[in-house]
Amino acid sequence: MSTYILGIESSCDDTSAAVIQDQKILSNVIANQEVHKNFGGVVPELASRAHQQNIIPVIESALQKANISKNQLNAIAFTRGPGLLGSLLVGTSFAKTFAMGLDVPLIEIDHMQAHILAHFIKDSDTDIVPSFPFLCLTVSGGHSQIVKVNDYFDMEIIGKTIDDAAGEAFDKAAKILGLPYPGGPLVDKYAKLGNPEAFKFSEPRIKDFDYSFSGLKTAFLYLIRDELKKNEHFIEENLNDLCASIQHTIVKVLLKKLILAAKHTNINEIAIAGGVSANSEIRKRLIEMQAELGWKVFIPKFQYTTDNAAMIAITGYLKFLKSEFTDQKAKPYARSINR
Ligand code: KG4
Ligand code: ZN
Repeated sequence: MSTYILGIESSCDDTSAAVIQDQKILSNVIANQEVHKNFGGVVPELASRAHQQNIIPVIESALQKANISKNQLNAIAFTRGPGLLGSLLVGTSFAKTFAMGLDVPLIEIDHMQAHILAHFIKDSDTDIVPSFPFLCLTVSGGHSQIVKVNDYFDMEIIGKTIDDAAGEAFDKAAKILGLPYPGGPLVDKYAKLGNPEAFKFSEPRIKDFDYSFSGLKTAFLYLIRDELKKNEHFIEENLNDLCASIQHTIVKVLLKKLILAAKHTNINEIAIAGGVSANSEIRKRLIEMQAELGWKVFIPKFQYTTDNAAMIAITGYLKFLKSEFTDQKAKPYARSINR
């Protein structure tokens, strides 16, 4: 008999619901919030209000697309944290009420673990999943981590950012260029037409497998400020090259530490997860590394990179198998212990 689980994700600015049948995703509906575009970042109060408007239609649509009734659900999985408290509260409250009403177990999910465990979705028999232990470069708007994944729920963070996350570096660079939020996908788009060697930025010197991106952001800001003084059209005239150069530097920094970590741990199964794993340059470089370094690389399908509930549903399924259920008293948490 199959297990059906509804996953709910509301940690930041995307409201998402997904239905999974064992390890196969039947539906994955995402409502993006347009309200933040002109603010240069997510406005927490607007985000939680938009979640309230979106959550019921998104869940109804996920059930409809999966072609199942709510009474067939075996459990409700929801993101408990980390994220914006007001946003998390919407998903958490809905999940608790729905689980209670349907009299099915409630399963709390850690958003960062879920980004990684998205690799265990098996939409078809040809989908290959990583074997333990593997390293996962988890890079999103709020986190940059190198995680040693020993088992589904046994993960060690062996490297992390000491300041900005990789996604934040993309978004802040985009903001300096006058591009709307979230800027990562736009930098990626313009970079395709630019020269990655046009502008050089010094790389941070940080110990072990840790990252730092705030110096790069400042260097980028100063370059633009100084060049604009000489030529007010500097950004328009160099947009593609600026995007290609900053993207190239961020990707180079990310991969350098990942290579070090792979050597140090002697692990060559390498995965990438989180919103920045949608980036075309990092995807391309990782594929090249299979041949260059003998890595076996796992790159998530595009729809499972940025925030989505499919990753919550698969993690819910893996917890369901272990009967790891959550009490109705569970409250959301804003921060993980490590970034
Ligand atoms: O995982 P995610 O959707 O949300 C968080 O958990 O933070 O990641 C969002 C981040 C944003 O910073 C966004 O700009 C970045 O992922 N991102 C990208 C691309 N697509 C999304 N960064 C670079 N290139 C992309 N194609
Ligand atoms: Zn995320």
